Amino acid sequence: MYLNKKILVCVTGGIAVYKAVALVSKLSQAGADVKVVMTESAMEFVTPLTFQAMSRNDVFFDTFDEKDSRVIAHIDLADWADLVIVAPATANVIGKVANGISDDMVTTVLLATTAEVWFAPAMNVNMYENKAVIRNIASLAEDGYRFIEPSEGFLACGYVGKGRLEEPEKIVELVEKAFEPKELPLAGKKVVITAGPTRERIDPVRYVSNFSSGKMGYAMAEAAAQLGAETVLVSGPVGLDKPVGVKVINIESAAEMFAAVSAQYEDAAIVIKAAAVADYRPAEIHTQKIKKSDGESVINLARTTDILQTLGERKENQLLVGFAAETENVIENGLSKLKTKNLDFIIVNDVTDPDGGFGNETNVVTLLSKNGTNKPYPAMSKKDLATLLLTAIIEEERIGSTYDR
Ligand code: PMT
Repeated sequence: MYLNKKILVCVTGGIAVYKAVALVSKLSQAGADVKVVMTESAMEFVTPLTFQAMSRNDVFFDTFDEKDSRVIAHIDLADWADLVIVAPATANVIGKVANGISDDMVTTVLLATTAEVWFAPAMNVNMYENKAVIRNIASLAEDGYRFIEPSEGFLACGYVGKGRLEEPEKIVELVEKAFEPKELPLAGKKVVITAGPTRERIDPVRYVSNFSSGKMGYAMAEAAAQLGAETVLVSGPVGLDKPVGVKVINIESAAEMFAAVSAQYEDAAIVIKAAAVADYRPAEIHTQKIKKSDGESVINLARTTDILQTLGERKENQLLVGFAAETENVIENGLSKLKTKNLDFIIVNDVTDPDGGFGNETNVVTLLSKNGTNKPYPAMSKKDLATLLLTAIIEEERIGSTYDR
């Protein structure tokens, strides 16, 4: 792994300073930009020049030596670092930081940084087991500092025991692990989402449709992509921008949506149908504009295919999630759709709620599942809701890389 990070190594005075030289060298070889801060005692063992050569950066040891007049060195270094490693960490530096003391370059940087700080202690075994040192380590650990335990073996003082600075290779390994990109829960999964209304043509200038803006479905697609999914969005006509990292297939009618979703179905892990699909279409599409005439006019309607129901009938390993737009008996109607369409989840929304439904930025929903989940969500933005709903689905089904399924 190429360690594209800024690492500040704070070197304090103990015989293990020679191992800190190897640590700085190995971190630099791994790709990190390394800077070194030393205490005066550390300089009794190895000169700053050695660390300068290994890090190819200036070495800092005097709080009052401001090399760059545009910045305050200890604050600049503290802000610069992605990670601070104190190696070797003496009992003295551990005690000072545990008690908020900052009387040299190392301790002022340690108090000023908001980056993660790791201590790699190295000292005589009796010092390491001293009650005050144990107390200071425990107090720092409680404050969120991380410790790389010393290993056991022959110590420079002649003792055999715990107190050797962990090997530089091992510390580099821990750093690389800490910066490894975390795999997203839906990585490697294909998620198909539908959004928006469908338009069912009457003639070349007119159609039957509904008020869906596509906001809920687009939010679901954006959330799926952010959770790592290969996301395909089958969208009815809406005025929204294409979400980042999402493949959009534009359709117009329920029949076109059916064809597009069917083509994506086989290798989909999850299908989420947020679209408001027309249940009826004009039985006949006139090729010419219908002329107005006196009196009433009747348009005969025919049923469209229930896409979700058909997917439910063809279901193999796919996880099927429907939305239900209801105006009354919201939960009962949702549960009935969950069952008849053979779904895993259904998200019901009362589309008469002023904070939810068609066109709004917010929605108020309840997540129902085949396992009996009945989880209401308060009014919130469709974007926030989308992430919460997807996360809840991932958790309940234990799907995705988090669970190795
Ligand atoms: O787009 P917005 O303005 O953000 O509004 C969001 C929304 C209210 C449209 C959305 O939250 C929502 O509820 N979508 C589902 C609307 C709907 O068609 O509900 P339904 O209860 O009629 O259908 C139940 C499910 O079957 C839905 O998943 C629907 O996509 C699906 N269906 C319905 C009919 C059909 N012919 N084929 C289908 O696949």
